Amino acid sequence: MTEIRVLTDDAQFRAHMTVFRRAMHWSPFSDEQWQVARPSYEPGRVLAAFDGDEMIGTTQSYGSSLVVPGGAVVPHSAVSRVGVRADHTRRGVLSALMREQLSSLPDPVATLRASESRIYGRFGYGPASRWRTVEIDAKRAVIPGEMTGRVRMVDQDTADKLLPELHEAVGLARPGQIGRWPGWWARARDRKSEAENSVTVVHSGPDGDDGFLTYKVAEEKGFRHRLSIEDFEWADDDAWRDLWIFVSRLDLVDHIDIDLALDDPVSWLFEDPRVVHTREIFDEIWLRLTDVPRMLSARTYGEAEPVVIEVQDGLLPANSGCYRVSADGAERVEEPADVTIPVGLLGAVYLGDTTFSQLAAVKRLSGSRLADADALFAVQRKPYCGTFF
Ligand SMILES: CC(C)(COP(=O)(O)OP(=O)(O)OC[C@H]1O[C@@H](n2cnc3c(N)ncnc32)[C@H](O)[C@@H]1OP(=O)(O)O)[C@@H](O)C(=O)NCCC(=O)NCCS
Repeated sequence: MTEIRVLTDDAQFRAHMTVFRRAMHWSPFSDEQWQVARPSYEPGRVLAAFDGDEMIGTTQSYGSSLVVPGGAVVPHSAVSRVGVRADHTRRGVLSALMREQLSSLPDPVATLRASESRIYGRFGYGPASRWRTVEIDAKRAVIPGEMTGRVRMVDQDTADKLLPELHEAVGLARPGQIGRWPGWWARARDRKSEAENSVTVVHSGPDGDDGFLTYKVAEEKGFRHRLSIEDFEWADDDAWRDLWIFVSRLDLVDHIDIDLALDDPVSWLFEDPRVVHTREIFDEIWLRLTDVPRMLSARTYGEAEPVVIEVQDGLLPANSGCYRVSADGAERVEEPADVTIPVGLLGAVYLGDTTFSQLAAVKRLSGSRLADADALFAVQRKPYCGTFF
């Protein structure tokens, strides 16, 4: 009989980490690694499944925030460390963990990254943004013109202090971006110290620091060098362009790799747009609306005739019902529905990555007035998070 418990102490947290890492085929953490991971365990947010006294499954969340269309920032649970011990899989352990977690999350929305894409739809998560991996031919990458501001390299201690503040100031602008929790920064710092040649540069414009970029360079055969951009945040177009000028003019670099939003205008930076090669497009955010009325009220809508949307949510039935969405906002109503949609697919359209019409075309939802629904949920910028967890 599986029992789900909320974990409270350090020894249980460490056992949780070991069960999760074993499920991912990774070795348990050393004492030193555990010290780095420990701050990511937040009381009240760590769940485990037990068979008697044995821990057999894990999940947890981190307290964060999420930017929604229109720019509002809402409290958000970043769900992670989902795993079930290999000798207990396919017996409903994950399902029990997910049910308990969904019913107890303190925030109106949760997101996760899915290492297995076929698992989370049944729990009401939908793929809500994608990233594009590009490789840039750096030797041919010419950005015309000069910088408007200044880019400086900072040492590790400065980066540790500056980046969380700067991310908070400039990194919560695009729908899909999330606030980073202290445990996230602790792991990021640790990963950087593992990669000795990781470099952080900070951009300053007329009003002070307004962007940063972290990269590392690996040497390949034949003295070729590959630069990977690992973290990149900016406040405005000038900071974005100046940081690109800096990395694209670094000596010795042959290729630059980076993950970007689907609508990132990077190709237009260069004299020759063909220096940018898209290598992969992949799902990024999986989003679960845990409080549908609150989340529908949190975002803004485009201009169109109002549409009544019926939401179906088998796991959190309080969300089920009809909502009238108009350019002025959303409210619960008792009216016939124009469109009926399962909560997971509402998660997929919520940030604007896909549309009602696209989902209707593939028979994933039914209804009428789809063009109005599309116009209401339309966004100016494709959603993108850019913070991996
Ligand atoms: C993925 C994992 C968490 C599933 O746990 P589980 O306890 O076996 O899941 P459940 O028994 O509750 O299964 C729930 C449903 O999901 C399906 N499912 C579970 N894992 C699946 C997988 N890897 N691929 C496809 N379907 C899967 C089950 O068949 C079941 O379907 P049903 O409801 O139609 O019967 C577990 O296998 C695991 O830890 N895997 C390795 C680590 C991992 O992938 N973690 C996810 C990180 S994002």
